[in-house]
Amino acid sequence: MSTAQNLKSELQILQGTLGSQVQKSSTLEQLDDIRHNALGKKGQLTQILKGLGNVSPDERKEIGALANSLKDEILALIDKREKELGEQYYASLTETEWIDTTIPPAPFPRSFYAGERAGHLHPVTLVQRRLEQIFTSMGFSVLDGPEVESDFYNFEALNFTEDHPAREMQDTFYTENGNLLRTHTSPVQVRAMQKLEAPFRVVVPGRVFRYEELDASHEHTFNQMEGMVIDRNVSVSHLLHLMQTLLAEIFERHVEVRLRPGYFPFVEPGFELDMQCLICGGDGCPVCKKTGWVEVLPCGLVHPNVIRAGGLDPAEFQGAAFGLGLTRLAMLKYGIEDIRHLQNAKVEFIEQFN
Ligand code: PHE
Repeated sequence: MSTAQNLKSELQILQGTLGSQVQKSSTLEQLDDIRHNALGKKGQLTQILKGLGNVSPDERKEIGALANSLKDEILALIDKREKELGEQYYASLTETEWIDTTIPPAPFPRSFYAGERAGHLHPVTLVQRRLEQIFTSMGFSVLDGPEVESDFYNFEALNFTEDHPAREMQDTFYTENGNLLRTHTSPVQVRAMQKLEAPFRVVVPGRVFRYEELDASHEHTFNQMEGMVIDRNVSVSHLLHLMQTLLAEIFERHVEVRLRPGYFPFVEPGFELDMQCLICGGDGCPVCKKTGWVEVLPCGLVHPNVIRAGGLDPAEFQGAAFGLGLTRLAMLKYGIEDIRHLQNAKVEFIEQFN
């Protein structure tokens, strides 16, 4: 057999073996190996073509063309097999990696765990619920108001003029259209007068927001409870009685309080009611800013301008109002030394109130 004849038959044999190797391959890695071993720089094809030096130019042309078509054919076969393997792989995924979306979800922990891991209310909610009980028993209704407020209800109707320096103390977050996150629950004073028929009594628990430097006693988000009594002949003694009742009920004991004059544009006269710090017993700690006293109840008689903004005649109706710091009250009741604990999501902290 001539050399040329030999080369041709070697090529044919290689074509046959490669074809069946490709067909039998079951992974992409195997295909890569076949490609490398047969067609790579030092592969079988190159080895065979080394013999080309010993054949005539005509034969060389013929065998070269044969080698090229062999190469093309094998590459096409490898390509095809690659696609087949890919399809098989994805088809197998739908067998092994499926999710049954009809299985009911795992039960919520609250009902899933018995006993000590059962769910429970947040300390601020506990205090809020208790206060709602106390006040509804005294004939108050519980009212709600929007957290995103207009400048009108948060400031203007409450007797803060546009450039009033008291706005400075209640810096907050503004929305692009000029509304703001309410800095207190007091906007509901005016909303309540517009909505309800006087005389009435309401409490308004809710979240409020301030642009604050955060520390043990300042948060950007905290809770207040507004209280308002609108009636004929309302006086400071009504106010005092209400607040003493509420503090004794919530702490289930006598608490020392003191009353100082306090300034808020929407009350006249205005007071700060402080209670002796229950965490340090009056010795001084971070919660009471080392003074032994904690402001819990700013309050006063509703300013005539606010009564008018609510659509009532101050000659006929007067009001008593207070803005209870719900968050601070919960801290005092449960001996929480840092306000930031209340909003972080630490389960260890929250579980103590179970
Ligand atoms: N809204 C006031 C504040 O958040 C508190 C307040 C309420 C004062 C009602 C007087 C009467 O600071």
